[in-house]
Amino acid sequence: MDIAAAATVFTDPRAYADNERFHTATALLRRESPVHRVEHPNFNPFWAVTRHEDVMAISRASDIWINEPRPALGPKPKDADRENIPIRSLVQMDAPDHPVYRHVSADWFKPAGVRRLRDRIAELAKRFVDRMADQGGECDFFADIVSHYPLYVILSLLGLPEEDFPRMLRLTQELFGADDEDLARNQDKQAQMQTLIDFFNYFQALIQDRRANPTDDLGSVIANATIRDEQIGELEAAGYYTLIATAGHDTTSAALAGGLHALLESPGQWQRLVDDPSLVTTGVDEMIRWVSPVKQFMRTAREDTVVRGVELAAGESVLLSYPSANRDEDVFDNPNTFDVGRSPNRHVAFGFGAHYCLGTHLARLEGQALYAELVPRVRSIELAGTPEYMEALFVGGPKRLPIRYTMA
Ligand code: HEM
Repeated sequence: MDIAAAATVFTDPRAYADNERFHTATALLRRESPVHRVEHPNFNPFWAVTRHEDVMAISRASDIWINEPRPALGPKPKDADRENIPIRSLVQMDAPDHPVYRHVSADWFKPAGVRRLRDRIAELAKRFVDRMADQGGECDFFADIVSHYPLYVILSLLGLPEEDFPRMLRLTQELFGADDEDLARNQDKQAQMQTLIDFFNYFQALIQDRRANPTDDLGSVIANATIRDEQIGELEAAGYYTLIATAGHDTTSAALAGGLHALLESPGQWQRLVDDPSLVTTGVDEMIRWVSPVKQFMRTAREDTVVRGVELAAGESVLLSYPSANRDEDVFDNPNTFDVGRSPNRHVAFGFGAHYCLGTHLARLEGQALYAELVPRVRSIELAGTPEYMEALFVGGPKRLPIRYTMA
């Protein structure tokens, strides 16, 4: 593979479904061209940043590197076209708005806030492991188990009823799986817009209900938030819900499914968790590093600047490649080895800086609860077919993970 071929991975959704191709390509780029200009007829040009140190430095410098107008890579004309972003959420914002809106929910995502959900999460973890047991020894761990579990957690956080689960599942998968033909309604812009409108209508009803009858959940906190002395607008509140519902769902599902795939393919790693249950903490973080479910976010330069000796002009955009940064040989010993005891584990799968993922504590708690429940109950477990990964430019992981098991 040469550098030009390697650089195609960022614009080709199929590359994210082929872990070997992706990691071979990005290892080459980290070595030979760590700040690499990518041009493709369907995308506005950008620079792919593949080293851990550079991803961190750019994420930290939010005075120079901003999220608007291009928070993540997508095909033209949606990408970098503000009119095509009907809902503005945290990831589209910069200071001074960003900290004000982030503050609305920040407390709910701190460890003390998330602890409120600990019992509920443990109950849900048990429910989904029970479901696995009920399936009689074979299931698709992604489709049957972990594509559902994190959504239940999010619904609980927002205070939504469980009956709404099927609609939310469909909407989040369509929105994030839009590059994968198995998941998308179809690829056109109108269909994606329809998905967003469905979300908006659903959340608008919720906002009205929570304003009339406030409850003790994040849904009410957002609906009744005050932004600079005024009640939050309906569009902003809907944008907030959409972000939380989408950001917190497919990401965690991907990490938990890809994590099991890694456990089953890496000799001895499952047994280490059986022998020492306390390894579930580092184990879940390693799953998150390994899968890096969020494939990229972007930043755009506010002024002329230099990244690793490459001069970038104001207005140019960089793509922060989290899965590449998380295999950086300069930071991780044996980066291509899955090690449930890895410590330290300075992965950037949750990003870094002003936009650092709000859901880190929640995602970790969900992962730990599921594996703490699952591992002791399984007697034997193996793959029962070839896993398949999503073709998605933004959030991805397994879309099929057939397994065979016996349970206690
Ligand atoms: C932002 C990853 C789970 C809510 C982000 C960012 C990444 C990320 C990379 C952007 C960070 C940056 O730009 O520096 C992940 C991964 C997850 C996960 C890998 C699971 C393994 C969750 C969960 C929630 C959540 C469970 C909440 C329910 C958010 C929100 C933001 C965000 C609200 C926007 C923060 C901002 O722009 O200020 N996440 N996330 N995430 N995440 Fe997560």
